[in-house]
Amino acid sequence: MSRYRAAVSTRLVVLVSGGGTNLQALLDASADPAYGVQVVAVGADRDGIEGLARAHRAGIPTFVVPVADFADRDGWDAALTDAVAGYEPKLVVSAGFMKVVGKRFLERFAMVNTHPALLPAFPGAHAVRDALAYGVRVTGCTVHLVDGGVDTGPIIDQRAVVVRSDDDESTLHERIKSVERELLVDIVGRMSRSGWQVNDRKVVLGE
Ligand code: GRF
Repeated sequence: MSRYRAAVSTRLVVLVSGGGTNLQALLDASADPAYGVQVVAVGADRDGIEGLARAHRAGIPTFVVPVADFADRDGWDAALTDAVAGYEPKLVVSAGFMKVVGKRFLERFAMVNTHPALLPAFPGAHAVRDALAYGVRVTGCTVHLVDGGVDTGPIIDQRAVVVRSDDDESTLHERIKSVERELLVDIVGRMSRSGWQVNDRKVVLGE
């Protein structure tokens, strides 16, 4: 099979707050030059997480900007913006990053988020628990552009996952995450290689 190699890899900063399996999927994909993505740094809002350890093992620079280190949210947002800007990314990926970034950050960077539910259903930090509690039979994941709200930005793509009668939050989330990782890798690669456009809420990828 012949492979097209992207002329220049797109610089990506990934933000994490936890285990970082979505980050790992991006790191694994970016090992192939044809994927067209270079993860130039990994940032977090807390230390001591597996997501940062994954970056260390891959030899990728990391930075940590905890909200508690700042007098207010604006100060944190400014520091996060500066930390990310130092790596000059074309795209920032929130891969399980459990903080809402502010206006300053979003004026400067395009940002993609992955969410473990079919938005606009079940936004927020407990999407899998909320979907189970509501009793939905089908849920899934959403990759979307980030705007100023909580999981409200334009949807890029979604995948459905069927809820089993014996699912608990953990089994369902693991099944969602295996679909989520594939979707995120696909979308980030396509955006990086071919760009994107947003018309109203419709996101059109270049390939
Ligand atoms: C993902 O399901 C993400 O959508 C949610 O938290 C999970 C993070 O998983 N916000 P991981 O840290 O990438 O393993």
